Amino acid sequence: MEIFLDTAKLEEIREAVAMGLITGVTTNPTLMMKAGRKDYREVTREICYLVQDRISAEVTSMDAEGMLAEALEIATWSPHVVVKIPTIPEGLKAMNLVAQEEVDGERLCRGCPWFGQCATDIETARDLADSWGVRINATLVFSPNQALFAANAGASFVSPFVGRLDDIGEDGMKVVVDTVEIFERYGIETQVIAASLRHPLHITQCALAGADIATVPYDVLMKALKHPLTDIGVERFLADWKSVAANTQ
Ligand code: E4P
Repeated sequence: MEIFLDTAKLEEIREAVAMGLITGVTTNPTLMMKAGRKDYREVTREICYLVQDRISAEVTSMDAEGMLAEALEIATWSPHVVVKIPTIPEGLKAMNLVAQEEVDGERLCRGCPWFGQCATDIETARDLADSWGVRINATLVFSPNQALFAANAGASFVSPFVGRLDDIGEDGMKVVVDTVEIFERYGIETQVIAASLRHPLHITQCALAGADIATVPYDVLMKALKHPLTDIGVERFLADWKSVAANTQ
């Protein structure tokens, strides 16, 4: 199972990239607010530059036409961008339209401040955009039916929100389990991104359920990495090595 980072904070992304932990990032307007940023395009472009992999950026229009226009604009920010669209009736209409669109190769990466330093040159960017088209991440999925409908409408990814269902006393992980089973049964290629994860056990449960990707907040990722016995082991090795060094002088 791949791990994405669920954040718009660049310092968290740099750390996770340095540890080789992540192969993508998911953002949303709330995460932008938490990062204290309102320049969505610039932040997304910097994240694409840092990660060079799938970065979700969300539309904010509420009607299909507006979502379509935004999706086509967002798709020109970088070939690595995946457009997040909410799983509501207007969202499904937008997904259905967006899935048939191509990325405007002429406008792709235009004006990007990372141009020239980026690992993806413009020819490669255009080739990638040509082969991928405008990829959609169906967000705010709370049931296997919503996931199925979004996949049928052309989403490349669906994001069931586990923690928010747990918050209202429902079994969030069951939506991941059922969605994975349905997609497997019908050979649906849409990938499942388990989202709204709150604690390390969620990550293990997603992996056991067969989710393709878990998108995880940085603090949850660090909690999952930490183990007291690992820390004690490191301290003991260090102390023993110091005493060996002292005794052999
Ligand atoms: C997913 O892509 C969302 O950004 C995210 O997982 C939402 O989670 P939350 O419930 O912690 O806001």
